[in-house]
Amino acid sequence: MKTDTSSLEIIKSTTSKLDQTKLDKLVFGEIFTDHMLECDYENGKWKTPKIKPYGPIELMPSAKVFHYGQAVFEGMKAFKDEDDKIWLFRPEENFKRINVSGARLAIPEFPKDYFFNGLEELLKIDKEWIQKGFGNSLYIRPFVIATEECVSAAPSTKYKFMIICSPAQAYYSGEVRVKFSETFSRAADGGVGYAKAAGNYAAQFHPTNLAKEEGFQQIVWTDANTHEYLEEAGTMNIFFRVGDKLLTAPTSDRILDGVTRKSIITLAEEFNIPVEVRKVSVKEIVEAARKGELKEMFGAGTAAVINPIVGFGHKGEKFELPKLEDTYASFFKDKLMKIQYNQAEDRYGWRYEV
Ligand code: COI
Repeated sequence: MKTDTSSLEIIKSTTSKLDQTKLDKLVFGEIFTDHMLECDYENGKWKTPKIKPYGPIELMPSAKVFHYGQAVFEGMKAFKDEDDKIWLFRPEENFKRINVSGARLAIPEFPKDYFFNGLEELLKIDKEWIQKGFGNSLYIRPFVIATEECVSAAPSTKYKFMIICSPAQAYYSGEVRVKFSETFSRAADGGVGYAKAAGNYAAQFHPTNLAKEEGFQQIVWTDANTHEYLEEAGTMNIFFRVGDKLLTAPTSDRILDGVTRKSIITLAEEFNIPVEVRKVSVKEIVEAARKGELKEMFGAGTAAVINPIVGFGHKGEKFELPKLEDTYASFFKDKLMKIQYNQAEDRYGWRYEV
């Protein structure tokens, strides 16, 4: 899609923070580029989006987002290739998903042309913030919040859609071990688990803190009814390699339909790696680990990319995974990143040039 800037107001920053920003050894999500996109919804319609200098926004304490958590978000990345071209990865999926999430939280649909025109223009203005090289990217965070000043428990009549961008490297800086949840749940049938609702993430913080005290970085959520089936981790979908077989849970109304997750499934099929999308039980993974058949676990997500998991805990027992030379995690990461950075053929039309 070509950028039509007529439906966009642009106020450029007169200064840039880029010169004073250290872009090596970035901690995820702490630094933001010079500009952001803002678009308000009022009287039943989205107004003209604005790109303006990154900075504070003013909201009344009665804004509904503070009281009822009516908020959804997305995670995307932009990559710069060796010729300075900028690429997004499957952005249509994120556009669709923010509206799917929004619909579940009674947030009005955001228009496609506003999303793509605004995002592309924002990336062009802040393109110097995108560093070249495998592992460097610009993390893009579109989100919508309810801004109506009213504390009655009903959907807001006003919203703010925004996009902010953060130069990114790795999400996790060290080894990742996960705890299989035994009591806490992330999502229930008929709930909002499939949506990127802000509250889904807030609700994970307390159980994750408890798991951290036991030496784990993340929780793998199990189904709310029985806690017998493994669903997804806090910041990513999850894959298991048992023997040569790759296993991952099917998406459902509880599990996020991750873009990285579905890209891995497609790549596995292309490269004849047996992949089973089905319910994965705690029992079978614990048994496979005991027999030495559990070769790998890894998480997959936009922020985390493909992150190996080196061990897990369940019911007081801790398991370490073998240290393999050739892993599926590194195979898929390489294939995926080569597509993202315009270094490999894009067979599926996943790349989107800005
Ligand atoms: C992403 O991977 O983009 C996410 O939204 C996960 C988030 C917790 C960083």
